[in-house]
Amino acid sequence: MTLNLFGDRTEPEREELADGAVILRGFASRDDAGLMDALESVTAMAPFRHMVTPGGYRMSVAMTNCGSLGWVTDRTGYRYDSIDPESGRRWPPMPPSFMELAESAAAEAGFAGFQPDACLINRYEPGAKLSLHQDKNEQDYSQPIVSVSLGLPAVFLFGGMNRTDKTRRVEVRHGDVVVWGGPARLRYHGVMPLKEGHHPVLGGYRVNITFRRAG
Ligand code: SIN
Ligand code: FE2
Repeated sequence: MTLNLFGDRTEPEREELADGAVILRGFASRDDAGLMDALESVTAMAPFRHMVTPGGYRMSVAMTNCGSLGWVTDRTGYRYDSIDPESGRRWPPMPPSFMELAESAAAEAGFAGFQPDACLINRYEPGAKLSLHQDKNEQDYSQPIVSVSLGLPAVFLFGGMNRTDKTRRVEVRHGDVVVWGGPARLRYHGVMPLKEGHHPVLGGYRVNITFRRAG
């Protein structure tokens, strides 16, 4: 247990969600101003957009990327691409503060030496959600996923190896980082529809930044 400013008991700083999966409470809060500046510089070059799935659905989550590879979906499928299809140019480089956060969170979770080459940035507005899925478009499943939550809180669903397995519901708040890898790398996960609210830094949105070794 940790104590907050008022000396009250709060939740643990670190909680195991499964073998290979951990939530690091507040891990990204140490430099949230630096992260917000970096986020703004990325989205100025590669604005958020609602991508379309192969089935023709417009995703409720708006997305962009930075780093040498970006995750994209369109009518032809899901893939990693070095080019932003909206601009025809490379994705913006991964800001050093992003890279440092991803490496240090992975190391804290037991995955030392993580070198992400892909950073997907998801923006949720009220009602936006992400259905249960596995992250399977990467080449090397020995590398973990590092997922940073900013802005409004959300309910993160963490399931098992089958879509129908029971899911754990974990509230993720500004600065929380979830890392999953090793035996947990292919677990199903998703995000419940975002509730309305106001966050002092991000207003009416939640932003999630996920780091992966994709190529
Ligand atoms: C993801 O599954 O890629 C993102 C999950 C999240 O937004 O927390
Ligand atoms: Fe995912």
